[in-house]
Amino acid sequence: SIANSFATRLIRWQREHGRHHLPWQNTRDAYSIWLSEIMLQQTQVGTVIPYYRRFLQCFPDIQSLASAPLDEVMVQWSGLGYYSRARNLHKAAQRIVGEHGGIFPEEVAIIRQLPGIGRSTAAAIAVFAFGKRAAILDGNVKRILSRCFGIEGYPGEKQVEAQLWQKAEALLPKGDESPIERDIEGYTQALMDLGATICIRARPMCGSCPLRLECVAFRDNRAGSLPTPRPR
Ligand code: ADE
Repeated sequence: SIANSFATRLIRWQREHGRHHLPWQNTRDAYSIWLSEIMLQQTQVGTVIPYYRRFLQCFPDIQSLASAPLDEVMVQWSGLGYYSRARNLHKAAQRIVGEHGGIFPEEVAIIRQLPGIGRSTAAAIAVFAFGKRAAILDGNVKRILSRCFGIEGYPGEKQVEAQLWQKAEALLPKGDESPIERDIEGYTQALMDLGATICIRARPMCGSCPLRLECVAFRDNRAGSLPTPRPR
């Protein structure tokens, strides 16, 4: 196998320029990581932080969440929006207690069966909580991959999304080349941080991007038209 320059460049960049002090980093507590990923699904980091801290003070572990009345959970969630996230969180906590002995499952395939957890969120939790080698593909990552590899078509289309998932899986650091390629957490955080700070939707900062030497959109000056917008 050959070294993966995409992963290596991202991991090195994340170590120097990425975010390292978000409240859900530097923990391996699967419950805290799960909570952060659910809150971050549709809400910005800056909005999430105070809710995340308050929620954890109120419900410090899976057991306390599972045994709380749903309306108390909703009170802690109120203001964050997308309230089905809170109902699913509560239902999933009860299922973890009832079906997994109160222990958060480690396998992506099992995590994915919990309510409110899709393929990308399951992968993020498995990476950050358990160091599993799994691919994420949220909106930010779709944008990075569309641009870097010149993948055309609206990412909301099934066939385009399938192509992006295939790329995301193929790009995962192998973990058998160098210590740097063993850092699956750093790699995953790098994708999130690059998408949030450099490879942003409007006016991306390509001059500061660690991928610019291999990015199709940068080479062809197409960052403004990739990813392909929703057809209308
Ligand atoms: N968005 C989704 N997951 C995130 C994470 N773990 N850190 C920062 N932003 C995120």
